[in-house]
Amino acid sequence: MNKDRTRNLRQALGSFPTGVTVVSCLDKNKNPLGFTANSFTSVSLDPKLISICIDKESFNIDSFSITKHFAVSVLSENQQSISTIFATPHEDRFKNIDWSTEETGSPIISGAVAWFDCNTQQVVDAGDHLILIGNIIAFDSTPKTPLMYLRGNYVNLGLEQKMLLAMENENTEIIVGAIIESTKKVLLLEDKKNGSLYFPSASRLGHTDDDESLLGVLNNLNISINEHYLFSVFEKAEDKTSLIYYRAQAKAAIDTLNDFFYPFDAIPFDKLSDEASRIMLKRYIKERELNAFGIFVGKESEGKVEAISKK
Ligand SMILES: Cc1cc2nc3c(=O)[nH]c(=O)nc-3n(C[C@H](O)[C@H](O)[C@H](O)COP(=O)(O)O)c2cc1C
Repeated sequence: MNKDRTRNLRQALGSFPTGVTVVSCLDKNKNPLGFTANSFTSVSLDPKLISICIDKESFNIDSFSITKHFAVSVLSENQQSISTIFATPHEDRFKNIDWSTEETGSPIISGAVAWFDCNTQQVVDAGDHLILIGNIIAFDSTPKTPLMYLRGNYVNLGLEQKMLLAMENENTEIIVGAIIESTKKVLLLEDKKNGSLYFPSASRLGHTDDDESLLGVLNNLNISINEHYLFSVFEKAEDKTSLIYYRAQAKAAIDTLNDFFYPFDAIPFDKLSDEASRIMLKRYIKERELNAFGIFVGKESEGKVEAISKK
């Protein structure tokens, strides 16, 4: 299949929302191994079977193709960084991770929403992947909110709920802002009165032709963006405002706005208008550097998809 067709197929497959798991086993020296997988599926209740698909190019394919046991840990929405660790090359992915064992000795990630400890029932050859079918020996689940994955992005259900609650609260003023990035630079506007820097914002998300809305404000600045994703929702109790922040990539480098885009390593944090903005921007830069945002789609990340699948 040519490159474009593969990309289109990935995009089509990515429109099916999933959870995120870590699939793990012990290698022949009893070292823990694992990788991030969203191909987890329930197969049968009686007998209790689940399946996952593993890329034959996977670094640990030799261990997973012969392992007699494996475990699946369903990650919670607070475990996005664990998903990133288990999806990127690391000498020892378990180094700073809390884990334990249950029946089979396979590692189970602490704090997971649910886990399934399995004996390998069958390994099915399927194109460029192997399907591991596991017979569940032990399992458990909690009411925590799972991390979700859709169109190459992690979806934070808790955040969406928080946003809806904030919008329903008639006693608070809503401010909708955006962290706009262009090649590792971030857009900050300057308050001419006191020189402080702030993120573009408005009272609603709106449309490009609505001047009072965030998308209208960006349009007036001559900035067009790719998809926008919810990034942060928080309240400022003292002035009864709820702030809803999106993140987005500017579509093209905008020469006329160069002065407003600050490189990640040269942001004058002391000039930011408030502490919440400072904390949020620091988190953004950290997550960008960890590549904790969507790995599978989006213009900038396509190269990484290939890096993941080629290895
Ligand atoms: C959300 C997400 C889901 C993934 N799902 C799978 C999967 O189901 N099967 C797979 O083989 N790789 C999947 N990957 C890619 C692997 O986690 C990644 O290639 C990892 O580096 C493989 O590790 P290894 O080569 O060290 O075994 C996924 C990555 C992400 C971020």
